[in-house]
Amino acid sequence: MLKTATILPLTGIIGAEIQGVALNDLVRDNDHATAKALCNLLTEKKVLVLRDQHPDHETHIGIGKLLGTLAPPQPMYPKVDGYEDIIIVRNDDNNPPENEVWHADMSYLSMPVFASVLHGVHIPPAGGDTLRVKWQPGTVVIWDNWATQHFSCGDHYPSFREMQRVTVGAPF
Ligand SMILES: [Fe+2]
Repeated sequence: MLKTATILPLTGIIGAEIQGVALNDLVRDNDHATAKALCNLLTEKKVLVLRDQHPDHETHIGIGKLLGTLAPPQPMYPKVDGYEDIIIVRNDDNNPPENEVWHADMSYLSMPVFASVLHGVHIPPAGGDTLRVKWQPGTVVIWDNWATQHFSCGDHYPSFREMQRVTVGAPF
């Protein structure tokens, strides 16, 4: 459960940083009780930030599967080799930032997706934050896509930035 976690509000209204929860342990232990507590906190706070997680691909997908059923793969983004459920959002010489707009993920679906689980894999030295979140390598942010929008600042460009996302279609 989250009894041993520290929950630090990001603002007076929305978001919280969770300290003392290791997502690797949650997946390894198939810890549905803590995942349920996280899911409840997510619907309350709308954005959860967990730092220094560095999940491997199996763990990243495992987090999504502990929160609910995964959404269908997003067709427009490349995927991690061998992991169709992880999309790559990469800004490099061939891919300038394109998410400098308030949006909810995959809102083209008739049933909007519940939650995004975004892993900051390569974070530029300056800029590139998502509004509400200052990114560091290994940070995982989970947001309630039914209740919030987000905005990705492209002010890091041309520095390279790579994020990887697992998307949860619906909670359990
Ligand atoms: Fe997005």
